[in-house]
Amino acid sequence: MQIAIINGPNLNLLGKRETDIYGHEDFDTFFTQLKSKYDQVDLSYYQSNAEGKIVSKIQELGFEVDGIIINPAAYSHTSIAIRDAISSIKAPVMEVHISNVYAREAFRNHSHVSAVAVGVISGLGLKGYTLALDYFCHQ
Ligand code: DQA
Repeated sequence: MQIAIINGPNLNLLGKRETDIYGHEDFDTFFTQLKSKYDQVDLSYYQSNAEGKIVSKIQELGFEVDGIIINPAAYSHTSIAIRDAISSIKAPVMEVHISNVYAREAFRNHSHVSAVAVGVISGLGLKGYTLALDYFCHQ
């Protein structure tokens, strides 16, 4: 099974960025652990700070992989282009947020992506990615 994780802007700073909200672990360390825990899954990881690059990656992977786990970060709240890319592909997409976007500023309460995702996991820290992967493994 092929699953891709796509992270949006500023998530390359995990472990350094607003650690009270996003925690102390960097994503590369987490991803290495996730990959070894789910060694039966062909798991890939892509991060970009650029909206267009994320759209291109969704298009590229969306007809190849069995599922995409995406944290579009701030683009969740602004990007119709990412939403349209997700609704254009075959692969099901799970939206993950590390923090609880409903318990934060009002502008984070709406995501353009949620309506075209199979589900949303928000507020469970990096564990949200593990749970999303579990979901795809049990489909
Ligand atoms: C985030 C929440 C977004 O509102 C924010 O812009 C992010 C990270 C999260 O994982 O909690 O960059 O997607």
